[in-house]
Amino acid sequence: MSPPPDQNVPNKTVHVRSWGCQMNVYDSQRMVDLLAPLGYRPVDEAEGADIVILNTCHIREKATEKLFSELGRLKETKQAKADAGGNMILAVAGCVAQAEGPVITTRARHVDIVVGPQSYHSLPELVARASRAKGEPILMTDFPVESKFDHLPEEAAPRGVTAFLTIQEGCDKFCSFCVVPYTRGAEFSRPAADVLVEARRLALSGVRELTLLGQNVNAYHGTGTDGASWTLGRLIRSVAQIPGIERIRYTTSHPNDMDEELIAAHRDVPALMPFLHLPVQSGSDRILARMNRKHTAAEYLAVIERLRAARPDIALSSDFIVGFPGETEKDFQATLDLIEKVGFAQAYSFKYSPRPGTPASSSAEAVPEDVKSARLARVQEAILAGQMRFNRECVGQIARVLLDRAGSKTGQLHGRSPHMQSVHVAAPGHLLGQIVDVRIEDGRALSLTGTLVPTEPHGMVA
Ligand code: 5AD
Ligand code: SF4
Repeated sequence: MSPPPDQNVPNKTVHVRSWGCQMNVYDSQRMVDLLAPLGYRPVDEAEGADIVILNTCHIREKATEKLFSELGRLKETKQAKADAGGNMILAVAGCVAQAEGPVITTRARHVDIVVGPQSYHSLPELVARASRAKGEPILMTDFPVESKFDHLPEEAAPRGVTAFLTIQEGCDKFCSFCVVPYTRGAEFSRPAADVLVEARRLALSGVRELTLLGQNVNAYHGTGTDGASWTLGRLIRSVAQIPGIERIRYTTSHPNDMDEELIAAHRDVPALMPFLHLPVQSGSDRILARMNRKHTAAEYLAVIERLRAARPDIALSSDFIVGFPGETEKDFQATLDLIEKVGFAQAYSFKYSPRPGTPASSSAEAVPEDVKSARLARVQEAILAGQMRFNRECVGQIARVLLDRAGSKTGQLHGRSPHMQSVHVAAPGHLLGQIVDVRIEDGRALSLTGTLVPTEPHGMVA
């Protein structure tokens, strides 16, 4: 729990807007935790807030333009606050801050703080400096020597039964299209003891499903509680022993880091959910080589085979990029073939977007925009068809569903199946946070609906 706000500090507000991956969602929450002891409480609107933080993502198209148009809107919000006699501190955080720091402070003079993903633990100090030095922007985009994790406060009680926990950051893979190694820096794994303390605390506050996060989470190699280097598989075994943690997931992984210990964890640890997001990006070996993925399509399929041998009901998800420089129709067809072969339960697909500073961005073999759009439509159609097939096969089965929030219709709750499917079910509100049995009655492309299976009262043990 965070300490209660100091009674002498005026009641101030902070609004954080988050783009991008789950790591950013986690970071945004930690920024709120950092500012809570200073008397800042989170609010949903930027209007009137004392601090506005834009936690940005740089992974795909137009991130910088989106940021500048948002900053344009916030100029008026900041002015309105000043007209009312107040002061709004405007901060830009995340990967665009890291990549474009000086451009932001020059182009948007009303920005007070620019802080990279590895330095946001300094926010309280930066806010104090910004309050004093009105008008002078503060830029903090170094990769500090010390880990920010050693400087973050305990997280506030989570708002639900599911939570994210960052265990690893950064990436050393250098896929030729990706900015992450530049914006998030080198791979870093948190010590297992720190992860376990945070996981226990989350379990005590009611979390039942924990998602371990990292840009390259299965490359985890933190120091274990026994002093040895632990793999992700080893860490998962320890997390699974924490009372209250009933479900464990992890994301995002690289196929080359699916080692034996991790695959064995899928076989042996019942709490490890039978679902894995394993990006492959392309089904063509030629494109995979140009992407610097360091694996072929056949090697990816072999990993999936090993996973399925260990956990036959495992469902798979992936990421695909279409229109990578030099991608021919034949290469693209190989991607469609791979989708067909694997039968993904879900997947994300993106048009290739050149990221400044990445090797692929200087390629002269750009695929025309209209070709990219047409391929995206085709890949999405194939993914959706697979998703539909997967969901239809669930009809008639009983799924264990963790009810995590109110449904969109009254009287309904929303939950997740072990395979990460969205499930809508008519259920009383007091079941929120419980794991219940649901008979699946309808399967659409994006969700399932079902009815609650009444649980038998437990018999007396003789
Ligand atoms: N263009 C398009 N998609 C990208 N991704 C990463 N970089 C790019 C890029 N330059 C996608 C990849 C990755 C996901 C998080 O975003 O598919 O797995
Ligand atoms: Fe980016 Fe993932 Fe490749 Fe790392 S492994 S460079 S995060 S796409």
